[in-house]
Amino acid sequence: MNSRDCDFLVIGAGIAGLYAALLAGEHGRVLLLTKASLSETNSAWAQGGIAAAVEENDSPQLHLEDTLRAGRGLCDPQAVAVLVSEGPDCVRDIERLGVPFDRAGREYLLGREGGHSRRRIVQAGGSSTGKQIVEKLSQLVTRHRPIELLEGAYVTKLLAVDGICYGANCIQSERELLLLRARATILATGGAAALYERTTNPPGTMGDGIALAYQAGAELMDMEFVQFHPTALALPQTPSWLITEAIRGEGAYLLNARHERFMSRYDERAELAPRDLVSRAIFEEMRTEKSDHVFLDLRHLKRELLRERFPNIWEMLKAHGLDPARHLIPVAPAAHYTLGGVRTDLHAQTNIQNLYAVGEVACTGVHGANRLASNSLLECLVFARRAVREAAKTTEPLVPINVNVSEFQGRVRPRALPPTLQQIMTNSVGLVRDHDGLEQAIALLTEMGEEALVGRLIAQSALLRTESRGVHIRRDYTEESPDWLAHIVLHKDRTSQIEKI
Ligand code: SIN
Repeated sequence: MNSRDCDFLVIGAGIAGLYAALLAGEHGRVLLLTKASLSETNSAWAQGGIAAAVEENDSPQLHLEDTLRAGRGLCDPQAVAVLVSEGPDCVRDIERLGVPFDRAGREYLLGREGGHSRRRIVQAGGSSTGKQIVEKLSQLVTRHRPIELLEGAYVTKLLAVDGICYGANCIQSERELLLLRARATILATGGAAALYERTTNPPGTMGDGIALAYQAGAELMDMEFVQFHPTALALPQTPSWLITEAIRGEGAYLLNARHERFMSRYDERAELAPRDLVSRAIFEEMRTEKSDHVFLDLRHLKRELLRERFPNIWEMLKAHGLDPARHLIPVAPAAHYTLGGVRTDLHAQTNIQNLYAVGEVACTGVHGANRLASNSLLECLVFARRAVREAAKTTEPLVPINVNVSEFQGRVRPRALPPTLQQIMTNSVGLVRDHDGLEQAIALLTEMGEEALVGRLIAQSALLRTESRGVHIRRDYTEESPDWLAHIVLHKDRTSQIEKI
């Protein structure tokens, strides 16, 4: 069996993984793994941008207050303070690396999104921000000598023994077995929103890293919180393409089936309320009007603005025969982001020594029960940098590990998600949940075995949390309860723990 040694093993090549690999390359040899190819990551689909207090009329303090308010009492204030105070420097750092952020003269051209009290969304190429950043960082990664890229490499198991991680096993190009030994392993594999039928994520986003870490003995936290984006395209037989919230920041309206604006009935911030409230309101309108969508109205916005600031949305709508200047756009909520994940401290360190988690796979505590728009790319950068700084302190020599081939039978790579799994998640563990549906879902997901592990963990946590808070909505417990100012922590060898704040 072949093996490779490195100082840093980075698993996942979205923005968190790419940035971690680049920074780690300053300290030692890096192996960067992706199960697909460099261009096929969820980050590349990100539209909104990066939320950061970069201009004078804003401050990290205001950003902190907005983030805590959106998180409905469950954010970790220390983690949020780190996020908002180190964020602007990370933005400037990747700009120095060549990411072409949009500017009007010397000032950033900032977008606005729900729940933010200021315009603070830094963008590159308007709504193609994720793609622009991924392209630039990928270019740098492929040129940076200490970084070796393995594409088509699927990790089957993290090598964790007695609470210490030594690397991972992987299968490359469907055949070659590889043992990867590393001083530090950084998980950056993204979330699990593709477990749902309607999702804004690429199909590979099925929680691989969360499952690997859990099986290795890592703690997971806040798994019940799955964020649904309010406005994904809702056309029959068509993927649920994301339509960024930043378009509402420029004045787009939401209309119900009777073509009436409704958001101000739910929140004084109307279309710019935080995302959980907008998704909930849309769900309510669809239920009352017996419709499977509402409409996004862009007809009053200037064509040049739409074409210049939202080029990919403009093209996507055109490709589906929709002219934003003339037609109403049918939209409905779709699974978008996993707020919970592998529990980490302020240095992205998990409870397993030498195992770090960054980006959507992690639960750093910055999002609480509802993530503020565009805080996700910011989290990728800030905590990737922290993880590398911390991991670079590790000086322990690589330990020889003997692994026999049967050890590769960790996770089997699912070719495609079974449709029944997505149906169960959508019908019973979706935007609105209740006790009976969740219990049934858990029984079915348990029968399905390992490939439904992450779905089952989401359902189990959702069943435990007998209240509605942020993105977790229960029709049988409709209110927020002070008893639930608490996190649910999962570990494979323990029963679920409820940790009060
Ligand atoms: C959006 O642009 O609406 C999505 C950005 C995000 O999820 O933060």
